[in-house]
Amino acid sequence: MMNRRRFIRNATVGAATLAAAPVAFGSNSRLPVASFNDAALEILPRIRAWQHESPEVAASDEDFWAEIRRAFTIDTNQINLNSGSVSPAPRIVQEAERNALTIQNMSPSLWVDEFLIPQREVLRTRLAALFGCDREEMAITRNTTESLEIAQFGLPLKAGDEVLTTTQDYPSMLTAYGQRARRDGITLKMVPFPSPASSPDEIFDAMSNAIGPRTKVLHFSHVTYTAGQIFPVQRLCQLARAKGLYSIVDGAHAFAQFPFNGTEFDCDVYGASLHKWLTAPFGTGLLYVRKGLIPSIWPLTAAPESLNDDIRKFEQIGTAPVANRNAIGEAITFHEAIGADRKAARLRFLRERWMHQMADVPGVELLTPNDSIQACALGTMRINGIGANELTERLQREDQIHVRPRFVPNEWEGIRVTPNVFSTLWEVDTFAAAVIRIARSLP
Ligand SMILES: Cc1ncc(COP(=O)(O)O)c(C=O)c1O
Repeated sequence: MMNRRRFIRNATVGAATLAAAPVAFGSNSRLPVASFNDAALEILPRIRAWQHESPEVAASDEDFWAEIRRAFTIDTNQINLNSGSVSPAPRIVQEAERNALTIQNMSPSLWVDEFLIPQREVLRTRLAALFGCDREEMAITRNTTESLEIAQFGLPLKAGDEVLTTTQDYPSMLTAYGQRARRDGITLKMVPFPSPASSPDEIFDAMSNAIGPRTKVLHFSHVTYTAGQIFPVQRLCQLARAKGLYSIVDGAHAFAQFPFNGTEFDCDVYGASLHKWLTAPFGTGLLYVRKGLIPSIWPLTAAPESLNDDIRKFEQIGTAPVANRNAIGEAITFHEAIGADRKAARLRFLRERWMHQMADVPGVELLTPNDSIQACALGTMRINGIGANELTERLQREDQIHVRPRFVPNEWEGIRVTPNVFSTLWEVDTFAAAVIRIARSLP
């Protein structure tokens, strides 16, 4: 049983923890639970002790990042350089999820409906603030796939309408358009662009020049899953607006990797996964829809007509796990405690560090621009004479380094390297040394 002093101490840690304090609901009943996120109590004050440090100084302050690493439960006997697929969640998020699971199982229909589900509104407000939009434009989903497919299938498109995207957009999204093409007769045009691009203009021009009389949608990634190329989102969305096209932005890799103001982009739709850069639990995502566009998009799972103008119409998925979603709040708290600018500076620093070490090694080719405007955490490279699958397998077998092979059909293949806030300089340097050793060993 938690004593009063402990409860008060706990209740002052972060908005999401506060949300788990005893709350009156219904008539006069009170929840018999209190905030009990010990991991939050342990780590947050330690991280916040660094709040005075600028992003530039913090980026290479190993003492700070050692604290961050301690916040996770990662396997130190392998080097995880693939946070691009999914990030581990820190302890405070794991604990928040377990706590919500306990509450859920006390009496699901009561605690879930009366307590856990209404908490979604707190999360909506906090996610909207982080994204930079009105809370009435923010839906909570299960992942980017769900968020984007709501728009991909829900926008009013007819036979002959063209969607313009790139050859480096995410395969599931291309599959979704392929299905809509078979069902409704829309067409899909995929534009290639160089990796690395010489400048954001090169990307902008590639898309802009490909717009034709039948184009109705511009769909592109804020950060590509292939080489981590950052797109000029604002310019492309403004172009779409000027030409009367819908803009759909795939933000799976951008949200919470580096700070931005989503409203300034002026996009129509933005989807992201929170289990990547926000380090929220698996199966959490967000969907931004510009307010004026909400009535025009059909939800994937049906909603009553009364919700037609309401962003919540995109959340009508029936009974589904709530514990993962309710832990999003602690992920936001953790992210904010690190500081979005400090995090982005660190991620750039780590990528630049390994890229710099191999830039001049014969046979090594960097596919990501070594430029802070065009890249942040993700970097992709290849070694001439060895395929991406084989290089991935050798790094795993010989050095216990986990990376992802990436393939752009008919264009290139390489390995994508994604350090995270828990990555150490030793890990990044060990990766660089392994690549150089393998490159030099080839005939
Ligand atoms: C650019 C991009 N879009 C969409 C997705 C799909 O994300 P999820 O599987 O979380 O829906 C990914 C996953 O890696 C991605 O990299």
